[in-house]
Amino acid sequence: MELTSALAWLTTCLLLTLTSSTDPQSLISRRNLLGNGLGSTPPMGWSSWNYFNCKIDEATIKQTADALVSTGLAKLGYKYVNIDDCWAESSRDDKGALVPKRTTFPSGIKVLADYVHSKGLKLGIYSDAGFYTCSKEQPGSLGHEEQDAQTFASWGIDFLKYDNCNNDGSRPTLRYPVMTRALMKTKRPIFFNLCEWGDMHPALWGYTVGNSWRTTNDISDTWESMVSRADQNEVYADFARPGGWNDPDMLEVGNGGMTKNEYIVHFSIWAISKSPLVIGCDVRNISKETMEIIANKEVIAVNQDKLGVQAKKVRMEGDWEVWAGPLTHDRIAVLLLNRGAWLTSITAHWEDIGIAPATTFKARDLWKHKTLKPRFTGNLTDSVEAHACKMFILSPVY
Ligand SMILES: *[C@@H]1O[C@H](CO)[C@@H](O)[C@H](O)[C@H]1NC(C)=O
Ligand SMILES: *[C@@H]1O[C@H](CO)[C@@H](O)[C@H](O)[C@H]1NC(C)=O
Repeated sequence: MELTSALAWLTTCLLLTLTSSTDPQSLISRRNLLGNGLGSTPPMGWSSWNYFNCKIDEATIKQTADALVSTGLAKLGYKYVNIDDCWAESSRDDKGALVPKRTTFPSGIKVLADYVHSKGLKLGIYSDAGFYTCSKEQPGSLGHEEQDAQTFASWGIDFLKYDNCNNDGSRPTLRYPVMTRALMKTKRPIFFNLCEWGDMHPALWGYTVGNSWRTTNDISDTWESMVSRADQNEVYADFARPGGWNDPDMLEVGNGGMTKNEYIVHFSIWAISKSPLVIGCDVRNISKETMEIIANKEVIAVNQDKLGVQAKKVRMEGDWEVWAGPLTHDRIAVLLLNRGAWLTSITAHWEDIGIAPATTFKARDLWKHKTLKPRFTGNLTDSVEAHACKMFILSPVY
């Protein structure tokens, strides 16, 4: 007993010494997190759902992994290759295990994981905290959490999206932690994405259960759907932090339902909101225009900034909004958003952003890839087209 407590004390001292170099904010916020070490910045990758729905097979997944590498997207951080719903047979095997669909995944998931890993990528999979998944084509994991977590770990799975369909009516706060514990028990670090659609305000409890939590219902490929998810997600900005992120759903960029400017708004808001950046189009056949958006390194860097603070709306005036959030090195990310139908001039006031009015900043336009000539003191004004945005990093000039 004595020895055990002495050891515990020593371990604590050691941990304190090891972690004292990290900034205090992240120390405090990490205290209660699911301890799998994942998600220190928002996850980046691809998922099959938005473009393929249930029409998936192992060739598509492999070709997508190949395309993530050949397009250069993998190098930019898009590492997770996530198989969504409809990958499994409708019944478990005689030992109760999930079985990859024989017609579409004949080689099995382990082989796919090995392939994806050989490309330096990670493989994600999908299940549901209910009796069967949303497609109703495959069993859910409710009541089979430990067995399914062991199966996923044995295949080399790195990410689990866990949906909320067809459950027993009990609270998600009861059903989701069962899978958290099952995943932890496998000892394999598996990023845990709660897909509870925001019903029970998962931002308030998700950080003890998963690495990210959906704050909204499914996105669709329209401007209205996209901005309404951005709005719903913004409300929970204070709850995002390294290790646990608000998730307004996967990207629709490249799927054809919005204009280029609207997709730029979509990507910019997701980035500044520290949302997971999960591509939802067919990357095997990606257009130059789509690449220009999702491969914008400067915007990705805002999303992946180590500070991990989600931006908020700091001013709304009719159809326009200013979003802002802090970045490392005393910089600030600012988004000027025009939701209206006409070109408009938008001003970001320092006092709205919470910086001293007398401070001078230089401004980098992240879509034009240009540092603006003038320095800015007190405010920054720019004109913004209809359904479009401007995105800047402000850096203090000392
Ligand atoms: C590739 O994308 C273009 C649109 O960018 C589309 O017209 C074409 O059908 C796609 N090809 C395949 C094979 O999906
Ligand atoms: C912006 O700041 C400048 C001073 O730097 C000031 O002259 C101007 O009135 C401000 N504009 C707005 C719209 O607040």
